[in-house]
Amino acid sequence: MIGRLNHVAIAVPDLEAAAATYANTLGAKVSPPLAQPEHGVTVVFVELPNTKIELLHPLGDNSPIANFLAKNASGGIHHVCYEVDDIIAARDKLKAEGARVLGDGEPKIGAHGKPVLFLHPKDFYGTLIEIEQV
Ligand code: CO
Repeated sequence: MIGRLNHVAIAVPDLEAAAATYANTLGAKVSPPLAQPEHGVTVVFVELPNTKIELLHPLGDNSPIANFLAKNASGGIHHVCYEVDDIIAARDKLKAEGARVLGDGEPKIGAHGKPVLFLHPKDFYGTLIEIEQV
């Protein structure tokens, strides 16, 4: 059911420093910071040949990553995103398999303008999973 790894999201306490680390130390191609107020984050996209890394920093009050950074002060992997062809079919299969879909279970438009859902990390070995319809 799941397809390609779309991205790995890493929450970082200092976005400028993290972007510089990826650009300079790791020699990756990085985007300028992109504010996404509707998602409560500022994102730097790191383009790799086979996938993307998203460096996330909280934006505004009630950022969904504020608590994560409070618990992981030096940053950490926040979620992984797998692509699916049909998010409703994927959701229904996941629920039938007993996995917990976060929120009201209805797909939201994610950071790339495509429908996404998040799955409970306790059902997937401590990893928050995003599925995105591509
Ligand atoms: Co994501």
